[in-house]
Amino acid sequence: MPSSNQDQLTLAFETSCDDTSVAVVKSDGFVLSCETKNQDQFHAEFGGIIPEIASRNHTLRILPQTESALAKAGVSWRDIDFLSVTNRPGLIGAVMVGLVTAKTLAWAREIPFVGVNHLEGHIWAPFLSDAQYSGGQITYPALCLAVSGGHTSLYLIEGDGHYRILGSTRDDAAGEAFDKFAKMMGLGFPGGAIVDQLASKGDASKYTFPRPMIHSDNFEMSFSGLKTSAHQYLEVAKESAQLPDLCASFQQAVVDVLVEKVKRAQQVFAVEHIILTGGVAANSALRDQLSQASSQWGCRFSVPPLRYCTDNAAMIGLAGHHVLQRQGPSDLSLPPLSQSYQGDFIESAL
Ligand code: KG4
Ligand code: ZN
Repeated sequence: MPSSNQDQLTLAFETSCDDTSVAVVKSDGFVLSCETKNQDQFHAEFGGIIPEIASRNHTLRILPQTESALAKAGVSWRDIDFLSVTNRPGLIGAVMVGLVTAKTLAWAREIPFVGVNHLEGHIWAPFLSDAQYSGGQITYPALCLAVSGGHTSLYLIEGDGHYRILGSTRDDAAGEAFDKFAKMMGLGFPGGAIVDQLASKGDASKYTFPRPMIHSDNFEMSFSGLKTSAHQYLEVAKESAQLPDLCASFQQAVVDVLVEKVKRAQQVFAVEHIILTGGVAANSALRDQLSQASSQWGCRFSVPPLRYCTDNAAMIGLAGHHVLQRQGPSDLSLPPLSQSYQGDFIESAL
């Protein structure tokens, strides 16, 4: 490895769910290439992700995408200093495809590799950069709302590698709530982006949805009740003219809860930097409203461009640079895990 960390290049792999992604990323977060393929067409007919199908597609795609990530970055194997790979949390068979590929390549090429927590990847996603985007640096302490299909948590980031979970969803993740609502309304899977699109033409005050736990004196969240409430509107959904209003009303309920939880945390911890990340960070209402609220609170606001919101290997590469600096390389015995390690995040609220 070169002695200057600034000059290092990582080749990164992400296969923890249904997106297969390979990227080449510099130490400062500059993305030389990021080759991502989703599998929506294979899972849509089942209305959810089928783990076996996800693993099989990762297996077919990961090596061709590795070749094209290297080619698009204009680098060869000799330029790669180490590999970064998601080894937790995720669908175990899917995680295993990326991990076994990275370990095999690391062993064959005699270069180090690091296992990365997928959620730490999302935390670093806003700080990537490329020809069109520059994310800058984190100002510690910062608040990070990470909202995806599998996870929804609010973190206090106290330093590099010091992530305190202030609160999480007690049931469905925010993205899962969007997907279940979309499925119920006959909009297909995954439905978050479709709900967002329809909502932009609708009136958010037209239908009443609950704001679960919005006034609870903590940072916990709950979104499973929203689908129960959506049941009463199933008849309305058949009249497609009302769908935009229904989507806008549902979306606003989710956004209100999320923004309120961040507001509460900002008041308690007096941070000056708010970070939004994860697949649901692609939601236009959430981006706009949290951005506006952050400026009212006098805070800087960071959110990745859409290409780095949903799962991608570029964020795993940037997190990999940080993990390597903090902990050094991983051992070839590193296992794939469906959960985070206990020490990855500090669990207790202050
Ligand atoms: O981070 P991600 O790619 O995968 C996980 O790690 O879970 O997030 C995927 C989730 C899905 O639930 C999808 O419906 C949601 O992000 N999503 C959106 C939007 N775009 C993607 N939800 C709301 N509005 C969007 N525009
Ligand atoms: Zn994710």
